[in-house]
Amino acid sequence: MKTKLVSAAIIAAAGVTAAGSAAAQSDELVLYCSVQEEWCRAMSEAFQRETGINVLMTRRSSGETYAQIAAESEQPRGDVWWGGTGDPHLQAAQEGLTEEYQSDMLEQMQDWSVRQAETSGYRTVGIYAGGLGFGYNSDLVTENPPACWADLLDERFADDVQVANPNSSGTSYTMLATMVQLMGEDEAFDYLAQLHNNISQYTQSGSAPIRAAATGETAIGIVFMHDAVAQTVQGAPIVAVAPCEGTGYEVGSMSIIAGGPNPDAARTFYDWALTPEAQEIGAANNSFQIPSNVNSETPEAAPRLEDITLIDYDFALYGSSEERTRLLERWDADIGSLPQ
Ligand code: F6P
Repeated sequence: MKTKLVSAAIIAAAGVTAAGSAAAQSDELVLYCSVQEEWCRAMSEAFQRETGINVLMTRRSSGETYAQIAAESEQPRGDVWWGGTGDPHLQAAQEGLTEEYQSDMLEQMQDWSVRQAETSGYRTVGIYAGGLGFGYNSDLVTENPPACWADLLDERFADDVQVANPNSSGTSYTMLATMVQLMGEDEAFDYLAQLHNNISQYTQSGSAPIRAAATGETAIGIVFMHDAVAQTVQGAPIVAVAPCEGTGYEVGSMSIIAGGPNPDAARTFYDWALTPEAQEIGAANNSFQIPSNVNSETPEAAPRLEDITLIDYDFALYGSSEERTRLLERWDADIGSLPQ
């Protein structure tokens, strides 16, 4: 992989030299990526091959990337934020950290993707969707497997459940907002406090808990269902569960960073990333979200939203700067501060 990336960069550099330095198109793109490393790398490589634009990619979780873009706002270093849950993309949009852009590709997008664009004043767009749930290791949980959120409170799972920290992870923030919408806010925090008794670790990245479940380090990981399925597809004894009470979902998103160093390359990447060819790179790299282009093939293993009892997740509210900041502060005070 490394060798390929390096040679793609060399080819790209040679191409730019041959074309002459007068060309306005920049030869570099700084990509902040918030999906699985494997998919981030494959996207960077494919775009480099396609356009000759050299991609400098960093992978971080959704909340961490939002925080990085906010911290760099005086002197933006990134061009495109691709992937990660939609809420922090919406927060970045509201705070003017990302740029308005209406791609011609919008007409090929699913309704939920266009809604995300409209909600943000066209500062972000949906690139994939996926339902929240959990996965359990069927070698470790052999009887009465958990089917509902309520089941995760069972004493037999003491120290055997993992979920990420909602400050760093979009997955975990989606869970927090989902519980608030399902139960009411005080009841949700009460549930999370009880769940805390069974949590062995709040991880940094959203998908780490299911990787831990796949190796038997923990019995249950609270994750997006597609991340649980990715483990099953690779042969791990993981069963993905859509919780019986209903659940939330993400509209994974993409935004152009305001004032980034390579705005032309950013728009080129944005348009390309919305094509079926680019979106289908996910399934080839063990990622099973629902793609947002209506012409993209949905991977066979992808959990279908129609098969999951979904809440009517209020993206505008839970992606707003005030609400996301307030809920994370309450999580820090009420849950993050509890003794492990
Ligand atoms: O692993 C892929 C994925 O679950 C995406 O579907 C999602 O947008 C992102 O990771 C969330 O990652 P995190 O919870 O680490 O921010």
